[in-house]
Amino acid sequence: MLERVLSLRRAAPPHGDEEAENNDDGAADESKTKKQQLLLTTRAFNYFTRMGPIGPCLAFLLLAFLALLSLLLFHSHSFVCVSSYYDPVYRSRFFGLDGLESDFGSLGVPWCRSKHGKTVEWTSKDLLNGLEEFVPIYEARPIKNNMYGMGFDHSFGLWFIARWLKPDLMIESGAFKGHSTWVLRQAMPDIPIVSLSPRHPEKYLKKGPAYVDENCTYFAGKDFVDFGNVDWGSVMKKHGITDLNRVLIFFDDHQNELKRIKQALKVGFQHLVFEDNYDTGTGDHYSLRQICDQSYIRGGGHSCFKDSDEARIRSKRKKFWEKGTDIEELCGPGEAWWGVRGYMRDNFNHSNKPISHAEHFQNSRFLESILDVYWELPPVAGPSLTHQTRYDPARATSPLVEDGRYGLYQRLGLTRLETSTFNGYTQMVYVQISKE
Ligand SMILES: C[S@@+](CC[C@H](N)C(=O)[O-])C[C@H]1O[C@@H](n2cnc3c(N)ncnc32)[C@H](O)[C@@H]1O
Repeated sequence: MLERVLSLRRAAPPHGDEEAENNDDGAADESKTKKQQLLLTTRAFNYFTRMGPIGPCLAFLLLAFLALLSLLLFHSHSFVCVSSYYDPVYRSRFFGLDGLESDFGSLGVPWCRSKHGKTVEWTSKDLLNGLEEFVPIYEARPIKNNMYGMGFDHSFGLWFIARWLKPDLMIESGAFKGHSTWVLRQAMPDIPIVSLSPRHPEKYLKKGPAYVDENCTYFAGKDFVDFGNVDWGSVMKKHGITDLNRVLIFFDDHQNELKRIKQALKVGFQHLVFEDNYDTGTGDHYSLRQICDQSYIRGGGHSCFKDSDEARIRSKRKKFWEKGTDIEELCGPGEAWWGVRGYMRDNFNHSNKPISHAEHFQNSRFLESILDVYWELPPVAGPSLTHQTRYDPARATSPLVEDGRYGLYQRLGLTRLETSTFNGYTQMVYVQISKE
């Protein structure tokens, strides 16, 4: 599996030339429109010059009228945008499509440095191909309303990663009604699953749809054991696993991810997926993204200065994205911005321990020393397409289907999915780890 996952291509942005290939249709559309505009301008010019000396005066009046009209339209759009809070369509008109990303300026998107700059083997083209295959699978899911569980973006990400890695055993921590178990099963129909969750998914069957897998060993209900306390040696033996590199672990249990990484490292597990990789200032547990958010990383580190560019940008963007955090929310006492207001949260925020910046910094250094690969799943599509209203796209990597690519979005079947299913993106991350 290791060989399949790794490639020594430098940690380039997740999307390469392949994306351009897939976006051919859009580019063709755009160039057609430009040609038509040129033709119209030329025709208008010819028409006015044929009118003699009065022609230029009429042309000037027409231009002045058009300018006035567009000014009026622009202002009315702005008003509509501001008043229609969290409406992504108006939002994209307000910022302009490019503005959705570039407006965040130097703050950008934090990320984790890996030991040798390795990245994943799959490309954006592989992801787009996978997306086309996954949409009909997702449409047939048994749990249609998975509120508090995974939505479309992360379901796709987990399915894609599991299918690409082809592990011999899949472990999940945090099953809820069993949607993620079902996703793992769609990726690998014949591979055993081990699922850990305090409440057995079968309990949910009494109230509505749930998924219980036949080839899954449940440590759930009265048999529940936390990931950190499982006797993994005997579980591996039972499943005939001799190489831990052949095991994929999926965490959706809202526990401190540093704690989970240390537990996994101790056993020797190498391939991990974290569902909720919360951004700094948000979420109910300390995440990898929070740990790596350091000023020496491009897009990382924050200022609590109230009169800073960051403060201004944050307060502006918070109006448009529900998960956006302004400087007051970001910064706790003593200008502590790291984690969540200087706290390291754990276990659905039932435990909430203050940490110093020095400790937070040490955590990032530790993580960098054991990370072989860090890859955040991009959102499947831009907000003007999905109409998602929660996460700020400026704090996420570029979507697989960029804003404006409606043709591609429709061709992939994404228009058939309900809007709410795109609202749960929290930077799912795949990491590969090993001891120094
Ligand atoms: C967000 S839900 C999981 C959603 C699920 N993966 C899905 O996609 O539908 C979190 C789950 O973690 C479970 N949980 C809580 N503490 C846990 C622990 N220590 N280990 C494993 N699961 C835990 C909760 O009971 C809940 O079922």
